Amino acid sequence: MASDFTCAAKLLDGAEVSIRRLGRDDYDSVVNLAAGLTGDERYLRFFTVHPTHIDNWARSLTTPTDGILALGAFEGRDLIGLANYVELPELGDAEIAVVVAHEKHDRGVGTLLLRTLGRIARKAGLHRFVADVLFENLAMRRVLREVGWPITLHRDGAVLRIEVDLDSIENDASLEHGAV
Ligand SMILES: CC(C)(COP(=O)(O)OP(=O)(O)OC[C@H]1O[C@@H](n2cnc3c(N)ncnc32)[C@H](O)[C@@H]1OP(=O)(O)O)[C@@H](O)C(=O)NCCC(=O)NCCS
Repeated sequence: MASDFTCAAKLLDGAEVSIRRLGRDDYDSVVNLAAGLTGDERYLRFFTVHPTHIDNWARSLTTPTDGILALGAFEGRDLIGLANYVELPELGDAEIAVVVAHEKHDRGVGTLLLRTLGRIARKAGLHRFVADVLFENLAMRRVLREVGWPITLHRDGAVLRIEVDLDSIENDASLEHGAV
């Protein structure tokens, strides 16, 4: 399913977006999305204001690789957000991350991407998502509440480890919210 995954959905403002797996042709769009983030947003996503590994990051998300799924949300041809998981050595576990283009926040893009990522992960047989998020990242914590996943939080200093029990999600319909 994931290799050719694509779906259409509506954002909170009614705009239509398509969600699909990123490929090699999306490399420049991923780099540009990162370049357009504010310093605060880069810090929240990469834990540093000046990430030096954007090239490698963009390449890893746009090169088809077993155990990695990266989804992009597109408005027309513009990439406005992306979410990815990377499978971990613990069988059934994957680490997730999400970032939305600076001008596109608060339209439901992050929520939609995470719900879609969760739906695909469950179908792929994954059991648990984990995410390390800065404790101060209230936007991400609110989005996770909006997604409605069963989560467990563990705080370690400035970092909040979030664990999502994918097996406990009872209603897949909630994961498809927004799909046209
Ligand atoms: C965290 C981040 C991804 C959120 O993305 P976003 O697209 O702005 O998030 P959404 O638009 O889905 O959610 C924002 C708001 O819309 C609300 N919302 C989203 N979908 C909704 C829906 N279907 N119905 C009602 N409200 C909804 C959310 O509850 C939230 O409201 P609140 O802020 O008042 O609590 C974004 O801020 C970002 O890119 N930050 C920098 C990178 C980062 O921190 N990444 C996380 C670490 S990996």
